[in-house]
Amino acid sequence: MSDQLIIFDTTLRDGEQSPGASMTREEKLRIARQLERMRVDVIEAGFAAASNGDFEAVQAIAQTIRESTICSLARANENDIRRAGEAITPAARGRIHTFIATSPIHMEKKLRMQPDQVVEQAVKAIGWARRFTDDVEFSAEDAGRSEIDFLCRIFDAVIQAGAKTINVPDTVGYNVPEQFARTIRTLIERVPNADRVVWSVHCHNDLGLAVANSLAAVMAGARQVECTVNGLGERAGNASLEEVVMAVRTRRDVFGCDTRIDTTQIVPASKLVSGITGFPVQPNKAIVGANAFAHESGIHQDGVLKHRETYEIMRAEDVGWTANKLVLGKHSGRNAFRSRLQELGIVIGSEEQLNHAFTRFKALADKKHEIFDEDLQALVSDETSPHELEHFRLLASRFHSETGEVPQASLTLAIGSEEKNASSSGSGPVDAAFKAIEQLAESGTQLLLYSVNAITTGTDAQGEVTVRLAKDGKVVNGQGADTDIIVASAKAYLNALNKLHAKFDKLNPQI
Ligand code: KIV
Ligand code: ZN
Repeated sequence: MSDQLIIFDTTLRDGEQSPGASMTREEKLRIARQLERMRVDVIEAGFAAASNGDFEAVQAIAQTIRESTICSLARANENDIRRAGEAITPAARGRIHTFIATSPIHMEKKLRMQPDQVVEQAVKAIGWARRFTDDVEFSAEDAGRSEIDFLCRIFDAVIQAGAKTINVPDTVGYNVPEQFARTIRTLIERVPNADRVVWSVHCHNDLGLAVANSLAAVMAGARQVECTVNGLGERAGNASLEEVVMAVRTRRDVFGCDTRIDTTQIVPASKLVSGITGFPVQPNKAIVGANAFAHESGIHQDGVLKHRETYEIMRAEDVGWTANKLVLGKHSGRNAFRSRLQELGIVIGSEEQLNHAFTRFKALADKKHEIFDEDLQALVSDETSPHELEHFRLLASRFHSETGEVPQASLTLAIGSEEKNASSSGSGPVDAAFKAIEQLAESGTQLLLYSVNAITTGTDAQGEVTVRLAKDGKVVNGQGADTDIIVASAKAYLNALNKLHAKFDKLNPQI
């Protein structure tokens, strides 16, 4: 049995299916670059047939990423598989992941198909997919509630048809570790030619068992785990990449395998995904939570100071926690700025965008003096958006907030080629700013989420604001960063409006 555990990241597909986690193509590209830097083996870039936007995002990732395999999901029908195949064509290595449901309840109530028809459709799907690539993965949706004899039968058939990876999803998060491990062991024992394919698992977290089930499956012989950064995903989410990776790395003695992941990229990936989706990471979350390496009790602190391993099983720096590193200041020049961006793997499209970003960096350095990597990430995230997303722009702002007075906001916005002013009062300055924007934009959107995070430490830190807006079934997240959190809030609101204006065609496709 191989001692390499393949990490298949589905943050951009299953993760994006969480209501409110929709991402633009540029945001997906930024995450894909970070996943490549982290040395993820397979990136499931999306579900190409879901919409033109999804297709273009998978294609753009396939064109850009060279080190990871790029995968698109497809239902077991010819059209979905053709769209997936076309989208991954530019990839250095492309995979099609096709699936059909196999549990009695799904076959009868959802598909309205007989088991024989399901097997036949699955075999056809593998044939369609193989016209585009030899790297075909098959998933038996709701395998966790499927009959073992039927799973053996369908897996035998798809392996004969040429599937190279067999995925066993616990779609509804119903399984428990011992039983799930038994299922995997039985499949590997009973399915003919089981040793010619990679056995994969994909666990949802409805009972909080996604990571435990995935790890139990690894002990039983699975050699691919499907997971997401921060455990993002449908409902309670998927198995969290960072927990799976660090469990097998830290307890190699138990699992007998390891991943290729560069673990120092885990925390940057977590922050990037959290910033883009607006889904915060709970402070006590394993590996990536702000308190994951913080020792509060005096006894623990004393122990760690005497000998780190008394209370620590991993080193914070090995998963990418660094004390905020001072990287640039107000005297840093354009070359230092450009080379730090390169070191961070941030690609700025054109020289014009770089110049614009540098001007903004100088303005920030004047206000903040010390610029950290996190500040640079936030600063350039606007620069990588295409100009057509900038229908609404904040030109100037004035806020008034005084004890006993009603807070006021006055804004000047560029809307298309026009300049417009609006003033409003509100329950606080942020509320007043949003009302002023709405006077001009008249968007009719519903505010679903407003959250503020300090990007670094200290009272001079930039605030990073996420605003989630919904309109006509579309949900978008807007981000804005500034040392003034009211300005950051206005920028985030405008960023979300720009995404809606650009007809960002994402409707959280649920499969
Ligand atoms: O949860 C699930 O069953 C899935 C499949 C499409 C793999 O996401
Ligand atoms: Zn899933």
